[in-house]
Amino acid sequence: MNYAQAKELLTKYGQLQLLDYYDELTSDQQQKLLSDIQKLDFSVLENLGATHSKELGNLSPADALSVEEIECSKQQYEEAGLSALRSGKVAAVLLAGGQGTRLGSSLPKGMFNIGVTRKLTIFEQQMNNIKEVTDRAGCMFHIFIMTSDLNDAQTRAYFEECNYFGYDPQKIHFYEQKLAPTCSKDGKIYLDEKYKVSLSPNGNGGWYSSLVDAGYAQLLKEEGIEWLNIYAVDNVLQRICDPVFIGATLQSGCACSGKVVKKAAPEERVGVLCKEDGLPTIVEYYEMPPELASLRDADGQLTYRYGVILNYLFSVEVLNKIYRDKLPCHLAFKAIPHIENGVRVTPSEPCGYKFETLAVDIVRLMGSCLAFEVVREREFAPVKNKTGVDSVESARQLLKLNGVKL
Ligand code: UTP
Repeated sequence: MNYAQAKELLTKYGQLQLLDYYDELTSDQQQKLLSDIQKLDFSVLENLGATHSKELGNLSPADALSVEEIECSKQQYEEAGLSALRSGKVAAVLLAGGQGTRLGSSLPKGMFNIGVTRKLTIFEQQMNNIKEVTDRAGCMFHIFIMTSDLNDAQTRAYFEECNYFGYDPQKIHFYEQKLAPTCSKDGKIYLDEKYKVSLSPNGNGGWYSSLVDAGYAQLLKEEGIEWLNIYAVDNVLQRICDPVFIGATLQSGCACSGKVVKKAAPEERVGVLCKEDGLPTIVEYYEMPPELASLRDADGQLTYRYGVILNYLFSVEVLNKIYRDKLPCHLAFKAIPHIENGVRVTPSEPCGYKFETLAVDIVRLMGSCLAFEVVREREFAPVKNKTGVDSVESARQLLKLNGVKL
């Protein structure tokens, strides 16, 4: 793309500000900027203006397999899960393409050190959790790791440097998700540098389409992988490919399942697994009407009590039918570094939008979902913020509670 073509394209979309500094750039920088502009997906901007919460259909609370019920059938589920793992039917997908802006570290989130007297990164802790399962199963499962262009090289290099934490490198596969432009409140795409468009990961909703685009559908087929367990990088107590969870899901006949915890309080910032017009749906905390969030059953429990922890098991067969369906685009209002009046600024407060599709929206498309309750203190220690709620501090406390030496 040359300057004239870029100018024509940007005029069409009202984004000419991207060329404001073109004349100041070296010719390499000009080429870089033109190439960024050529690759831009302007369609995400159509979602601006739709910042209001979505209209909810007819909501009802979802049932879950409770901790007590699971305990009663634990052995039977576990055997079924271990057998599925041993026959290679299950693989894991680590969602590690996010930027972790709230944590304020420029490293991939998984490289964050949660150790105190020794170094223990989130990646290492999660690989330790995996080892418990692979030791028990006597075999290793495939692990797909989704990164983005912004952290792929660092993530790969870190795994290599750590010798893949003793895991079989042939069973670890990296792939990149897509990026989307970011923009100001009034819809102007930001420049990250005068020669570079501001791009950010386009949410975790594209985890399966990006995996297919990276050519891994063939591997799933060849290896007979029928189920994919996706999990977030930022929960250090994450139980990955948990045999009990797998067994319960297989026996439920559902197309997917999600681990849930009882919400600590009506206002806790987790999505809630509900039924909407009869279909399993995760309603984000900011979309949930407060009167429903605080509704209680006769026994005092929250009616809408099951919060999701981003650990889901999906049937590959069903995913293959729905993964190209359009997912809703969510606008995330964030602090985005950008060029303003010729200077790069790093705001501490949200200033503009990122565009994201979310994995939770796939659950609805799957048609049926088993909610599987787990004990919060054993499985949910999110590392979202530097301090306070869901922070490094709270995650450390929970790790200690679970006997992890920090
Ligand atoms: P979050 O929604 O917490 O986003 O991600 P984030 O980018 O990590 O953190 P903030 O909001 O900027 O502070 C939940 C999970 O989804 C992954 C993250 O890596 C994390 O495991 N994710 C998020 C992706 O893989 N891709 C994305 O585009 C966004």
